[in-house]
Amino acid sequence: AYPASVRIVEVGPRDGLQNEKTIVPAATKIELIDRLSRTGLQTIEATSFVSPRWVPQLADAAEVYAGIDRQPGIAYPVLVPNLQGYERAIAVGVREVAVFAAASEAFSRKNINATIDESLDRFAPVLERARADGVKVRGYVSTVLGCPYQGDVPLADVVRVARRLHDAGCYEISLGDTIGIGTPTKARAMLAAVGEAVPMSALAIHFHDTRGQALANILACLELGVAVVDAAVSGAGGCPYANGATGNVASEDVVYMLEGMGVATGVDLPRLVETGNWLSARLGRETSSKVGRAAA
Ligand code: HMG
Ligand code: MG
Repeated sequence: AYPASVRIVEVGPRDGLQNEKTIVPAATKIELIDRLSRTGLQTIEATSFVSPRWVPQLADAAEVYAGIDRQPGIAYPVLVPNLQGYERAIAVGVREVAVFAAASEAFSRKNINATIDESLDRFAPVLERARADGVKVRGYVSTVLGCPYQGDVPLADVVRVARRLHDAGCYEISLGDTIGIGTPTKARAMLAAVGEAVPMSALAIHFHDTRGQALANILACLELGVAVVDAAVSGAGGCPYANGATGNVASEDVVYMLEGMGVATGVDLPRLVETGNWLSARLGRETSSKVGRAAA
């Protein structure tokens, strides 16, 4: 049975924009988040407090976060790779952060210049501070269905990293198919394996649509009861440290599918479509959302 409702975690302002070559003005990022705030979304990942040398596009994280018109009832998490990022985030009023690890050693080194264990050690003080500050922490596991450097990623490695993030205090673990390489039966088997170690209610799925499999993978995973789905408006994005990785599944397409199946999302689809098409126009390209194209 499918869940009665699904919470969409909108990652467009972060995952969607982090890989843009041309710097998007802070004002556009702020307008994007404010528009998304009027669509019924409950969670909007706003930006990343990572090294500006590693991700120049998000060097304006503090300016963007401070500029958004935060609405009650909406969470605006941000990515932090270490305590320095956490402190920069807290200084501008952030109340929820996300730490990000990988299931593949090779990807961990390329993305955050650390082994998996080093990265988990680095997150420990962040989690400790967050607990003291009453700040919620989400955890990501990347490369759960394959790695651009290492190839196959053993399920046991995915389970181990997810369990460790959950044990360390992350309230939710988002499982990322960073390079959009999975297919539905593999995605479902991966989620089932992690679900043995972490409660399904604490899991989210994060699928990039590089090979057009994301909606199918989501549907297969929903059958196991997962009820949190990450998506990016207009299907923008990709990870700068995973060559060839394209955007996340488009939020419009996820909402269209779910609402069409009678699964409530709380999202106003026409407003979301309008926002995705607005963003695509700003970025000077056609939207990657099929639903967005159909409406244009
Ligand atoms: P490093 O170079 O090893 O860092 O990078 P370091 O600790 O040695 O510090 C080097 C310099 O960076 C120092 O400055 C620090 O102050 C500065 P210097 O003294 O040389 O002038 N620095 C910082 N500055 C601002 N904010 C910070 C910060 N930290 C250090 N937080 C580091 C290590 C983790 C910082 C770097 O590798 C990094 O920022 N990586 C982030 C890469 C990234 O953002 N990738 C994309 C997000 S993950 C993703 O997209 C996947 C996901 O969507 C799920 C999926 O799809 O699978 C989540
Ligand atoms: Mg991603």
